[in-house]
Amino acid sequence: MRASRLTVFMYAGIIGVPVLFILMVAGLLLNNAYALDVISMLLLLALVLFGVSGIFEVYAHRRYPRSGNKAGNGEFIENKVQPKSRQGKEISVVLKRFNSTTKEFDRVTYKARVDDRTTVLGALLDIKDYQDNTVSVRCNCRMGICGSCGMVVNGKPMLACETSILSAVKNDSVEVAPMTGHPLLKDMVTDFADFFERHRSVEPTLYRKDAREKYAPTEEYKQSQEELDKFLPYSYCIMCGLCLDACPVVNSNPNFIGPQALSQVYRYHADSRDQRGKKRLFDVDTIDGAWGCEFSGSCSKACPKGVDPAAAIQMLKGDIMKLLPENGE
Ligand code: SF4
Ligand code: FES
Repeated sequence: MRASRLTVFMYAGIIGVPVLFILMVAGLLLNNAYALDVISMLLLLALVLFGVSGIFEVYAHRRYPRSGNKAGNGEFIENKVQPKSRQGKEISVVLKRFNSTTKEFDRVTYKARVDDRTTVLGALLDIKDYQDNTVSVRCNCRMGICGSCGMVVNGKPMLACETSILSAVKNDSVEVAPMTGHPLLKDMVTDFADFFERHRSVEPTLYRKDAREKYAPTEEYKQSQEELDKFLPYSYCIMCGLCLDACPVVNSNPNFIGPQALSQVYRYHADSRDQRGKKRLFDVDTIDGAWGCEFSGSCSKACPKGVDPAAAIQMLKGDIMKLLPENGE
């Protein structure tokens, strides 16, 4: 078990104070004034450190109650503060956690009591609240809208807040790991800076030639149902990054812009209100753009919103092909 820094101070105090006390008595017996002064000062310092660390330790335990199961030891210790209301089946939740000391992943097992309404995210937050507050998870809406809780559950990228944990359990156990297509920050939390940069790079906004329209509109943009249907499914992207994580091409060629950004190119290209024209197609007519896609389809399978980036990319390829002179454009 790893001890906190405060605990180390406490143990140092428990050992150090009696030792210094004995030395002080020895100094008195030997009648050495200099040794007595030094030992008295050290004793005072040790007592202050001991007292302050004790106060902080008590405060930390009150604020973050925990049963003693620490990251990295891989062992579950009976939870002392499990909510009494928690009923249901007891399962093992195996978290793949990066150990910054060994630079390897540890598989840490926790026990969780879950029922058919418990999501993977719910179970992880319970573990964090009642067993090990060092577990890091990112979430916001808890309803499949914000896209921040993507992780890999039993080898498949999913939104933790939308996945029933019992549906993922195999042999009373479920494994949860961070996404691999994004740099890891801590535990299940990955860095989306590069992902957002890819998204930004395709200018995912409506472009109008007359910029004044925006400030002095004279009428609304009108669209038929067919025009709306062309791009609507692609506008449901919540930028969860699961498609990027599932894409085998991104995982082998980081320069490939990826399914999310390409699906957004198609979303704006197919929108009858957008006036960027062929430029959107020219921008992705590259080997790291639309032509990088090998149509494995894993992005569409992973997408929790039914966006179907794989289809969007194939349609982009088709529209790029129409630009060839022999195809009349
Ligand atoms: S296309 Fe789907 S999987 Fe990809 S980021 Fe958007 S919502 Fe997530
Ligand atoms: S917490 Fe918002 S999508 Fe899961």
